[in-house]
Amino acid sequence: SESSKNGFKHFMLKEIHEQPQVFKRTLQHYIGGHHQDDSLLQLAPISHLTNNISRMTIVACGTSYYAGMVAKYWIESIAGVPVDLDVASEYRYRKTPVTYQSAALFISQSGETADTLAALRHAKQQGQTCFSIVNVTNSTMANESDVVLPILAGREIGVASTKAFTAQLAALLVVTIQLARQNGLMTYKDEHLLLSQLDNIDAVIEGVLSQSHIIKDIAKSICDSSNALFMGRGIAFPLALEGALKLKEISYIHAEAYPAGELKHGPIALVDKDMPIIVVAPSNELFSKTLSNLREVASRGARIILLSDKNGLNQAEHFIEQGYELPDMPELMQPIAYNIPMQLLAYYVATLRGTDVDQPRNLAKSVTVE
Ligand code: G6P
Repeated sequence: SESSKNGFKHFMLKEIHEQPQVFKRTLQHYIGGHHQDDSLLQLAPISHLTNNISRMTIVACGTSYYAGMVAKYWIESIAGVPVDLDVASEYRYRKTPVTYQSAALFISQSGETADTLAALRHAKQQGQTCFSIVNVTNSTMANESDVVLPILAGREIGVASTKAFTAQLAALLVVTIQLARQNGLMTYKDEHLLLSQLDNIDAVIEGVLSQSHIIKDIAKSICDSSNALFMGRGIAFPLALEGALKLKEISYIHAEAYPAGELKHGPIALVDKDMPIIVVAPSNELFSKTLSNLREVASRGARIILLSDKNGLNQAEHFIEQGYELPDMPELMQPIAYNIPMQLLAYYVATLRGTDVDQPRNLAKSVTVE
C-alpha cells in the first residue's frame, strides 16, 4: 500500500523502484487508443488552450524545476516553442513583460509550494493561461489553474523527490507533443514514432535497478568525500543538476553541477584527487565535446565517474576512474533513464553515511512558507 515500505528499507528506495511503472502509467493516461489508430493523444483538456501559444514560461522549485529544464530542451527542439524557465521565488517578483499568446506552466509535486503558488497567482493576474502539472490533484495549485495535468505518481513520501520527477517528464512530454502538433511540426505518424522510442522504457529502468550493486560500489568510493561535482551537456545538464541536488539533500555532501563547457570558467580550479566528478554523458552528438572536457579535468588529476553507454565508456576509458554503463537508447529516453542511477547513487551514499534518508535534516516535503 501507499503508506507502507513494502519491504524496502526506506520510502525513497521503494519509490525509486516504482519508476518502471510510473512513467508508462502517466503517459498512458494521456494517450487514448492504441499506437495504431489516429486518436493517439487524447489531450482534450489542453488542446483548445494550447492553440496559438508562441512562447511558454515554465516555473517550479527544486526537483520539479529540473524537470522543467528537461522540458525546455524538449519543447524548444521538438515543438519549436521558445521557453522561459525560472525558479518560482525569482519569477514571482520579477517584472516579466507578458507577450500576447504566452502561457505559463507550473510544475509541483505537492501543488502547495508557497513560491510556486504565488508565481501562479502572479501569472494569472497578468492574464496568462496557467497550466499546472501536479501530483496532488486536490491541491491549491490544481484548484487555481486553468488546466491541470495530473502526473498520477501515487503518494510520494520520501522528502527527496524521485518518482514524481519521472512522472513529471511523462506529462511534460505530452505537452511537448501537443505543442508540436499544433505548430504543424508533427503528424500522427511522427507522434507514433516518437512514442515508440519509449516502448521499452520500463525494461530499461528495471535493468538499471537490477544493477544497483554496481552503483553501491561507486557510492562506496565517494561516500567519504566532502565535495562532488556533477557535469553534463545539453539535456544531460539538467540531469547533472538533479543528481547534485539529490546527493546534497540526503547525504549532506556538498555537490554542485555545471554544464560541461563551463568547467574551465571556474570549477576546474577546484579539481584535485579528492574531488569526484560525476559525468552524465550518453554518446550523442555532443559526446565528443564532453570528452574533451573530461580530458582536461583528467589531466589535472580528477577522479571521473562516467555514466554513459558502451561506446561512450570505450572512448573515455583512459581518463575515467569508474564507469557505469547504460544500454544504447533513443535520445528521448535518456533524461528518464540516466536519472535513475543518480538517484540510487545519492541513496547509497546517504545510507553509507547513515543519514536519515526519508527525512533529511532541515528539509520539508513541501515548503508551504516563503
Ligand atoms: C522541497 C522538496 C523537494 C521538491 C521541492 C518542490 O524542496 O524537498 O523534493 O522538489 O520542494 O516541491 P514541489 O511539491 O513544488 O514539487
